[in-house]
Amino acid sequence: MSLGVCYYPEQWPESRWAADARAMRELGLQTVRIAEFAWSRIEPEPGRFDWAWLDRAIDTLAAEGLKVVLGTPTAAPPAWLALDHGDVLPLDARGRAKGFGSRRHYCFSSPSLHVATRRVVEAMARRYGAHPAVIAWQTDNEYGCHDTTLSYSPAALAAFRRWLAERYGTVAALNQAWGTAFWGLQLRSFDDVGFPVGLPAPALPAHEIDWRRFASDEVLRFNRLQTGLLRQHAPGRPLLHNFMGLFADFDHHAMADDLDVAAWDNYPLGHTEVAPFLDEDERLRWARTGHPDLAAFHHDLYRGIGRGRMWVMEQQAGPVNWAPWNALPQPGMVRAWTWEAFAHGAELVSYFRWRQLPYAQEQLHSGLHLPDGRRDSGADEAAQVASERHALLAALAGEAGLARPAMAAAPGAAETRAAAADAAAQALATQPARVALLIDYPSLWMAQIQPHGADMAPLGLPFAYYSALRQLGLDIDLIGPQTELSGYALVVVAGMLHVDDALAARLTAAQAVVVLGPRTASKTAHMAISDPLPPGPLAAALPMALRGVESLRPGLRVALVPGGAGGGGGGGGGGGGGGGEGQAASHTRRWRDLLEPQRDTQVLDRHADGWPARLARGRWQAHAGVVDAATLQRWLADAARQAGLAPQALTAGGSGLRLRRRGRWQFAFNHGPGTANVPAPPDAVFALGGRALPPAGVAAWLLPEPASMA
Ligand code: GLA
Repeated sequence: MSLGVCYYPEQWPESRWAADARAMRELGLQTVRIAEFAWSRIEPEPGRFDWAWLDRAIDTLAAEGLKVVLGTPTAAPPAWLALDHGDVLPLDARGRAKGFGSRRHYCFSSPSLHVATRRVVEAMARRYGAHPAVIAWQTDNEYGCHDTTLSYSPAALAAFRRWLAERYGTVAALNQAWGTAFWGLQLRSFDDVGFPVGLPAPALPAHEIDWRRFASDEVLRFNRLQTGLLRQHAPGRPLLHNFMGLFADFDHHAMADDLDVAAWDNYPLGHTEVAPFLDEDERLRWARTGHPDLAAFHHDLYRGIGRGRMWVMEQQAGPVNWAPWNALPQPGMVRAWTWEAFAHGAELVSYFRWRQLPYAQEQLHSGLHLPDGRRDSGADEAAQVASERHALLAALAGEAGLARPAMAAAPGAAETRAAAADAAAQALATQPARVALLIDYPSLWMAQIQPHGADMAPLGLPFAYYSALRQLGLDIDLIGPQTELSGYALVVVAGMLHVDDALAARLTAAQAVVVLGPRTASKTAHMAISDPLPPGPLAAALPMALRGVESLRPGLRVALVPGGAGGGGGGGGGGGGGGGEGQAASHTRRWRDLLEPQRDTQVLDRHADGWPARLARGRWQAHAGVVDAATLQRWLADAARQAGLAPQALTAGGSGLRLRRRGRWQFAFNHGPGTANVPAPPDAVFALGGRALPPAGVAAWLLPEPASMA
């Protein structure tokens, strides 16, 4: 659990660096990320490097005991690269070049970019790869930000055709896979392939999904060029990339194969403003705290992508500048967001940025300090976390024998200290959760290519399931399709349009209760309807067939009636979990799967017109639509109980309480406007906060013994 900050020495007079570094140490920070936009300062002309300033910047930070995370500077190609080489600027869908004058002005397929990147990354890695203060490397910055994953350039088109030729071998195979029989679209050779944009009508879905797969591979190829050089010249230093919130334009699971840590940039208020699946009421309700599940969703997502290693590389510390509206966080939330990140397993939380810059595009973006150098409130909250962190680690170490003065002086003290530090680390080690939610990037692209309903945002389904599970007080792992399933009691598949045979077989063999959300396994890899009909390869485990789908415009709802056996008719029943709207208001909205049960599949709930709403067989359940939040919570509480878990009605009465366990510590957070009572045992020992949690409050209490898997 370290604290850090993002710093831009190249934007400030050198005369303030030393004072800044000292203030960073005094604030209680351990790491500083630098250089990710400094290419033009590092290499002012092609092949001429200026290291002197960066040497001094690193040494100034190191002199205060700070560790450096060094960014490769490729997110900001210099003018000499962007303007003097015709292939570097990315082209938009109409074939127009995006200009030079901001950042991320490059096409991932540009040969000139690759040549220049190899030169600068290799030179940088050779110079600082063994520097004792440089403890980790970040590649580029937020790949794909500002909608830059796709570039419709001649280089991209040539590479796309090669990629297809390698994948399909013959154009006949491509025609078959893409379904070019439709509208007479047979291709004569790979050279007939164009971009799936700028056409009078939509392109073939298979064409679009392959274009997205190709574009993702291009991002991976560019990143791998950098990680290969860094592995060679900076051995032993963890490599990371800072991924974004609400962003899925390339396959993050695949990129993680080349990284050691998945880092991400956490802007809870900005993300709450722009998340396409939140409604206006939710944006308003959580405008100063951030939606209580939005940061947590990403922490759990990126912990999974990083195979347990997750950092927050940029943490909002005050208002941002880039959302439609940019509110001030509620006092206490910067501290709460930091502790929430730690609770979800973050090894580092690094604030963005050290000081607000009085000029340029981000002049209205806050930092830990005002432009004149005085502390802003974010710095006060960061300092509070720093001292709380210190106390918590000391308590853990004390428990393990580290802090006893006699021991520190005794022979063998070093070994004792090491053992105690180890015990402290153990007490904070993140265990796997008992609930897993699957997430798959190509499926998200499929949902984007064919939303079918205008309010079916790709991340909306996974997020709705995540939020409902978290409001039941459950810890959740967001896992990729390759992740081992054996430890999980409950596995939820929501918004995963393509489930391949291998995953279907693993789900079938697992012991867990499995819940399928709407649209699950509805597509083949080429975006055709699954055969057998959806849920395709899962129909053997949960016999049913999709007869059709409908999307429902805002306000168009289908009422649910409980109890499947009678096939209709009203009535009470149900219960547990939830709270809020209650049974009477239960309905399906946005999307409905028209599912026909087969063999011994039971219907647990129906729609008023008779179509099944919830189906089950043994440990398998399926939800045939997007249901209201209270119903979803009730259904997931049923599934959790069947899985042997103990769901709680955490948010009954509208509370903003959330829980998360890390190691032996149980954390609680209050995002709501009123005091919330945490569900701690009567004899709980609190390290942070207490039983009654004020707004923006954080509590942490020690669990009696190392949490087991049971
Ligand atoms: C992103 C970028 C940063 C900065 C922040 C502002 O996260 O990585 O360079 O622009 O946004 O919030």
